[in-house]
Amino acid sequence: MTALRSVGIAGLGNYVPEKRLTNHDLEKIVDTSDEWIVQRTGIRERRIAADDQVTSTLALNAARQALEHAGVDGKDLDLVICATVTGDQPFPATACRIGRDLGADSAGGFDVAAACSGFVFASQIASNMVATGQFNKVLVCGAEILSRILDYEDRNTCVLFGDGAGAALFTPLEDANGQGEYLGGSISMEGGAEDVLAQPGGGSRHPATAETVEKRLHYMKMGGTKVFRFAVRVFASLVRDVVEKYGRDEIGVIIPHQVNQRIIEAAMEQCDLPMDLVHSNIERFGNTSAASVPIALREAYDAGRLQKGKLVVMPAFGAGMAWGHLLLRW
Ligand code: ACO
Repeated sequence: MTALRSVGIAGLGNYVPEKRLTNHDLEKIVDTSDEWIVQRTGIRERRIAADDQVTSTLALNAARQALEHAGVDGKDLDLVICATVTGDQPFPATACRIGRDLGADSAGGFDVAAACSGFVFASQIASNMVATGQFNKVLVCGAEILSRILDYEDRNTCVLFGDGAGAALFTPLEDANGQGEYLGGSISMEGGAEDVLAQPGGGSRHPATAETVEKRLHYMKMGGTKVFRFAVRVFASLVRDVVEKYGRDEIGVIIPHQVNQRIIEAAMEQCDLPMDLVHSNIERFGNTSAASVPIALREAYDAGRLQKGKLVVMPAFGAGMAWGHLLLRW
């Protein structure tokens, strides 16, 4: 067997739609208040896709920025992976549309459906494919239009989520100028939790019928308290493992799935780590599921928070209940 290659990130991109939906806007739609939402979640506003945008539109904007950042042409891509649970349609894969529109004529493409953990899982697939030498340029997008599956009559869910996309280009480390070295990650689940966080309608369990539509089964359903406890527990355990293996001082920044400010604060407290280690944008974008980590990653890059030689820790957790992390050395 040939030796594995080191892998890095040659380019990062993100994109959020222009339209802002503030907590005050939501006060006019459901029985809620800006004060309640800020106190319980830290969210002040989220972005909503325009009527003529689909998930691949958002992903393409982020992908083009990542390719430009890397100085790579779309036609040179080997593979496109899109992490999403709100693809353009159930099939074909949204990645195929992204690849076509980028001119990636000789690339393969597929989607990863792991909800909020999607980008972190897809990035590990990409890194391992580059490490083995199977591919040289793998584009990973995390993109969601959650506003299309939110029930704006359900205040438990509609205040939490927003739309957006992020992208990262994985290449051999030398082609990435030594930046964003992939150190590994994890992929775990506590399976069979369909009642905790799900879009029940439209699949083989509840195929689309007039009844499923009437029962609003095509909208997201969530048991908030269960998600809260699960998220704090696994987030804290993932970060603790990294601290144990590498040491606290090696961590440059923690970029968690942007789930809820209180979850992030509770997990950091459990790890006895200061909040200033975390990059959070939950206040501005809410929870964008698979898009949240790559949106925040590009932001952290722009803000100079990815420090040369330091670890970038990205814990993620969500429906499934699927959880894991991505670990880079910048
Ligand atoms: N505005 C006002 N009141 C609300 C709202 C709202 N938007 N949403 C719920 N409530 C009410 C409920 O109806 C309930 O009222 P009741 O007691 O009269 O029945 C009450 O607030 C619920 O209070 P709590 O359960 O104490 O609220 P909690 O502090 O748990 O906060 C929240 C609820 C924010 C959903 C919390 O459980 C949470 O953050 N859970 C995690 C959910 C999450 O972030 N999911 C993201 C998706 S999953 C993922 O990405 C991993």
